[in-house]
Order: sequence, then C-alpha cells, then structure tokens
Amino acid sequence: MISQELIATAKAIVAEYKGLLAIDESTPTLNKRFEKEGISQTEENRRSYRELIVTTPGLGEFISGIILYDETIRQSRKDGTPFIKIISDSGIIPGIKVDTGAKDMAGHPGEKITEGLDGLRDRLIEYFKMGARFAKWRAVITLKNCIPSWGCIEANTHALARYAALCQEAGLVPVIEPEVLMDGNHTLKQCFEVTEEVLRAVFTQLYTQRVALEGMILKPNMVLPGSACLKQESVDKVADATISCLLRAVPAAVPGVAFLSGGQSGELASARLNAMNVRFKSMLPWGLAFSFARAIQQPALEIWRGDETNVLAAQQALYHRARCNWAARRGEYNIAMERTKS
Ligand code: 13P
Repeated sequence: MISQELIATAKAIVAEYKGLLAIDESTPTLNKRFEKEGISQTEENRRSYRELIVTTPGLGEFISGIILYDETIRQSRKDGTPFIKIISDSGIIPGIKVDTGAKDMAGHPGEKITEGLDGLRDRLIEYFKMGARFAKWRAVITLKNCIPSWGCIEANTHALARYAALCQEAGLVPVIEPEVLMDGNHTLKQCFEVTEEVLRAVFTQLYTQRVALEGMILKPNMVLPGSACLKQESVDKVADATISCLLRAVPAAVPGVAFLSGGQSGELASARLNAMNVRFKSMLPWGLAFSFARAIQQPALEIWRGDETNVLAAQQALYHRARCNWAARRGEYNIAMERTKS
C-alpha cells in the first residue's frame, strides 16, 4: 500500500498553480552553461549561483519544489545555512536528481541509456534523511531516421520504473522524466507518435514494477516539431497535440504532469503551457504544471554572469519567469507580462 505522505507530497507539487524549478544540472552541464556566459567554472561559482536562486525572495509564491543535484544538496549559503534548510523554510519542497546521466547505449548507435540504479536504494535513504521528498530521473530519447529503437525505449522505461519503485519504497515521490529531445528536423506528427509510444511504454513498465500512480509526477516533453524542422507550429497547435497525446497515454490516477522545457525559450514555454490550460484545464484529470530549468533560469544566468553586483537583478528575472509560469497554469499568462516584468 502506498503511504498517505507520498500521495500528499505528489499533490502538493502541483497544488496552488505552482510548479517545480529544476536546478539539478550536473557539474559538467552547469560548467558548459557557465562557459557560454563567460563565467569561470569553479565549485564556488556553482555554489554562489545556486545561492542566488534559492535565496530569491518570494520564490515560494510560485514554486512548489526545487530539484537539486548531489553537489548542491550538500552546499550552504555563505553564512553556513544549508540550502536545503533555506528551501524548506521558504515553504518549498526539496527534491533531488538521482540518475547518474545518459550514456551511449551499447549496440544502439546514436541512442542513450540512463544509468544510476546500482546503489540507488542507499542513496535514496541518505537523501530522505537530508530532507528530500521527491526525486527525479531523466531518460533521453533521440528522434531521427530509424530511431528510437524499441530496445532503447524498453531499456529506458524499465530503468525509470525500477527507480520509481525504489523511490516510493524510500518515501520519495518519483518525478519520472522520459524526454523526447527537441533536437532534429522531425515534424510535430513524428514527435507525437514517438512521445505516445514512449509514454505507453512508461506506464506499462510502471504497472509491471508496481509503482503507485497516485504517488508520482510525470515530467514529459511537450509535443513539438524538432528545433531544425522548417515547419514550426502555432502555440495552439502545440497545445492541442500535446494534450491529445497525453490523454491517450497518461492514466487519470496520476496527480500531475509537469513539463520540462527542453530548450524552448522561456516565453514560448509559458505561452504553450498557458494555451494548454486555457483550452483544456477543465477537462483534464491531472494538474498541468511545469518543471523547468532553462525556461526559468536562463535570463537570470545571463544577467548574473558571475558578478555579485548583478545578484538582485538576476533574482528579479528568476522571480519574473516563475511568476509567468504560475500565471500560465492559471491560463492568465500573456505577452504583456513580459513587458511589465513585475
Ligand atoms: P529543461 O527545462 O531545461 O529542459 O530542464 C528540465 C530538466 O530537469 C532536465 O532534466
């Protein structure tokens, strides 16, 4: 039997129109983002950047949970207060990324398999003791000629289900992320078909591994044409395709769907989430939320650039994007919000 706490945490993640903020970039990924902005790639800079984020005043008005990385969950504010305490004190639920990354999949050129199951039970026990109440695992599906293969879909969804079962055993809500990448020139229709196939496989594996759907959150991609596809689609068309796909594949017992942003601009991600809520919210069985990294953080990172004197302006930018996505959940986001930025 699933515990009431797990169900309550899963519901809290998508309550009050809030959503998740992912700051769980691995060290190499965050270093790459720093490099692009000309920020030196030191542990202290990574700590300062995460301090800027978790100490943003008022973040808890729009953000229900923050996804941390192993390095970050052990870090503290300059005065020694652990980040995890600052997060909890702001009324935000701390979470943790627990996969150890997507690696080349043997026998499957061009495809990835996410690793991290070995020793996971013990790591989850430690994270729970530290205060984490949910955990994320990301599977990566590439869409190109002849891929994804069934072998890649099966192996990744099986790993997702095994991680999810271990999370629930440890009292952590699994935030299950099967990401069909935006990279490539595929069409909206191709993304729809692959996303549907992957989501059906996810829920078959979750059933087989006895994961309780009431105590999980799904973190899928939106259904989009590839970033290099010549035919880009309107906001409403993306909203319609994404919802049709989810309605086919995601059981009603799941409390919440929290999209990843996947490289969309912050404004587009908000506009698309808004359109889905405007057009469909009243008929959906699950809450439709966000779990964005880049689509919330990017403007703040660009403003900060490693300079202490930019912290306040960067925090304002972060607060603004969090607020836009909260408004998008309410179906109240509009482009005028981008001009007022308050
Ligand atoms: P993006 O929103 O930048 O895609 O990141 C979400 C995430 O958590 C990736 O694992």
